[in-house]
Amino acid sequence: MTVPNANRPDAKSRIGVTGLAVMGANLARNIARRGTPVAVHNRTTARTREFMEAYGSEGSFTPAESLEDFVAALERPRRIIVMVKAGAPVDGVIEELAPLLDEGDIIIDAGNSHFPDTKRRTEECAARGLRFMGVGVSGGEEGALLGPSIMPGGDPAAYAEVEGVLTSIAAQVDGTPCCVYVGPDGAGHYVKMVHNGIEYADIQLIAEAYDLLTHVAGLDAPAIGKIFEEWNSGDLESFLIEITAEVLQKADERTGGPLVDVILDEAEQKGTGRWTAIDALDLGVPLTGITEAVFARTLSALRDERRAASTTLAGPVPGAGEDRTDLVDDIRQALYASKVVAYAQGFAQMRAASKANDWDLDLGAMATIWRGGCIIRAQFLNRIRDAYAEHGEIENLLMVPYFTEAVANAQHAWRRVVTTATQQGVAIPAFASSLSYYDGYRRERGPANLIQGLRDFFGAHTYRRVDAKGSFHTRWAQDGSEVRTDA
Ligand code: 6PG
Repeated sequence: MTVPNANRPDAKSRIGVTGLAVMGANLARNIARRGTPVAVHNRTTARTREFMEAYGSEGSFTPAESLEDFVAALERPRRIIVMVKAGAPVDGVIEELAPLLDEGDIIIDAGNSHFPDTKRRTEECAARGLRFMGVGVSGGEEGALLGPSIMPGGDPAAYAEVEGVLTSIAAQVDGTPCCVYVGPDGAGHYVKMVHNGIEYADIQLIAEAYDLLTHVAGLDAPAIGKIFEEWNSGDLESFLIEITAEVLQKADERTGGPLVDVILDEAEQKGTGRWTAIDALDLGVPLTGITEAVFARTLSALRDERRAASTTLAGPVPGAGEDRTDLVDDIRQALYASKVVAYAQGFAQMRAASKANDWDLDLGAMATIWRGGCIIRAQFLNRIRDAYAEHGEIENLLMVPYFTEAVANAQHAWRRVVTTATQQGVAIPAFASSLSYYDGYRRERGPANLIQGLRDFFGAHTYRRVDAKGSFHTRWAQDGSEVRTDA
């Protein structure tokens, strides 16, 4: 069944959305509300009917109960947004759609797909004469409806066909849409993946700050919520800090106490943070903040083990005898400095991936489109955007004077927080690993000379010298003599 839209009975829709769970439904509504006619389809037809009943009056929709009707309802080249669960369901939809499409039609995967899958699908679709786009969309349910941040990757000519629609539905900051072409094949989904990795680090840092404020400063959730409210008017101003204030101040309807106190302390994850960490390992980029955030979630999930360990393993009881003067502000500064590190690492990873994949990513543009709509939106991203505008190519954001100075100013507080947390027995993997990264990065000569010596001792893996070119091996356990191995 295809019900032609009431206002333009013979008109074809400019774009289609298949997959009407919350994200797909809200994207379709956003598109229609901006005046673009949309065809909508869902595998379960009841959902399409429910969608039309609930939202059909919001704009120009053409509901379709079969994929054939859905495809027939679209203008050519057909532009089809697929909003289904990442993984096999995306391949399933492509398999069903492809035979119904014509050369040059465009399939847009707007879910959180893994970028190697996007690369593969781009090639598979190209072999069938179809254009495939992997588009990162961030902002959750509300963003999808009111204006997400959009990271489109794929064939630039295909992007030109959907640019108008995508920029019209994106969030806007200072009149600039939070949507810009990212790069070919998997680039859009890659950037979305790193966005999510940074989201993990941001959230972990917030959780560590909350833990310290609870167990070292001895504050309750609503009081900590107020502190986050204050922090949201300074350097830390961001969506995640804002909603932390709300979550902490929310009372539980059942108990009347803070809701957060009755939420189980086991963090779940769908995979994007883990993919970011794995890719950093593959690229050889130190990504400690995000990776520790992933591990912290996995440790949180070991709830039964933790319960047993809590009565077995020795350690200090947090809060005892701590001088709390200035602790709250120290934590704020530690949070900011660690956040700078997390972003510096994430941007360094995107730079490395851009080179490895020939994507030519414009990292300043990525900071620009993350300023609004997405989960990590923050004032801070203006500073990153400014840094790229001023310096162009940046190896590490820590070396940009603004951030160099910000971290230099925060470092004493940051060190005090890491010291206090360690002494008090509060786990702060993201704060501590960020500080260690900072200290490691600013060392001209680290201890890896010894690592090389040991590797050469047990495996003749060779080493290089500071005072001569070439590769060397020492016969450590034999006569102790040096052998040049590349001669
Ligand atoms: C976004 C979010 C979104 C989703 C995360 C949650 O940008 O809108 O990142 O993509 O909320 O995937 O990820 P986890 O379930 O892994 O925490």
